[in-house]
Amino acid sequence: MVSNSEPLPEGTVIMADDQFAGRGQQNNVWHSRAGLNLTFSIFLRPFFLLPSNQFMLNIAVSTAINKALELFLPEGVKVKWPNDIFFGDRKLGGVLIENSLQGNLIKTSIIGIGINVNQRDFNVKKVGAAISMCEILQQDVDLVKLLSEICLQMEQQYFLLKACNYDVLFREYLDRLYRFEQKALYKDDNGIFEGKIVDVSSNGQLTIAAGGQNRNYNFKEVEFIF
Ligand code: BTN
Repeated sequence: MVSNSEPLPEGTVIMADDQFAGRGQQNNVWHSRAGLNLTFSIFLRPFFLLPSNQFMLNIAVSTAINKALELFLPEGVKVKWPNDIFFGDRKLGGVLIENSLQGNLIKTSIIGIGINVNQRDFNVKKVGAAISMCEILQQDVDLVKLLSEICLQMEQQYFLLKACNYDVLFREYLDRLYRFEQKALYKDDNGIFEGKIVDVSSNGQLTIAAGGQNRNYNFKEVEFIF
């Protein structure tokens, strides 16, 4: 049980078997059938991270999830910028990070993670193009085993973050980035264009090379066209 009076130890993991008000990014609802998927949160105190570098936490988390999933699905798992988990062109999981600041430091961070694991049917109208691990593998996956792999990988990426090993964190993230260095279609305020993702910056901006120049985007300023 989580107590209101005791401070939560760093690294506390809370897993929900069912969620009646699951939240996704941008105030979306996170839909997940009871008992079939992984929906959990990890509590961290990344006081060593400057708010200007907080995107590095997204990088560490999404890479950790990806690495854990690679043990079950050796090919095809990618991170769609900024931190969606994709298989092919469909969403396999999502991450919601909520930081609280104290002065110029990150006091606490709640990393909410949802992975589609053993659910076989998705309401496309509600969740868009989703896919689950069991749909890919044609067999059920042990939720606790998957959870412990993700936590193990999280610990390793978090150590890299603490050690400010940003080069390694970036390389591992870009190695797994959906559409990295591939020509594809995007949409911004000026319309649809063809471009190639060439970089992601430490403040989380996505760089797309198009028409002979690099364009930088914040979250929601550019849309991936499928
Ligand atoms: C997204 O929109 O892609 C982020 C989804 C995050 C879902 C997880 S499930 C555990 C935690 N609790 C919630 O209500 N949301 C996050």
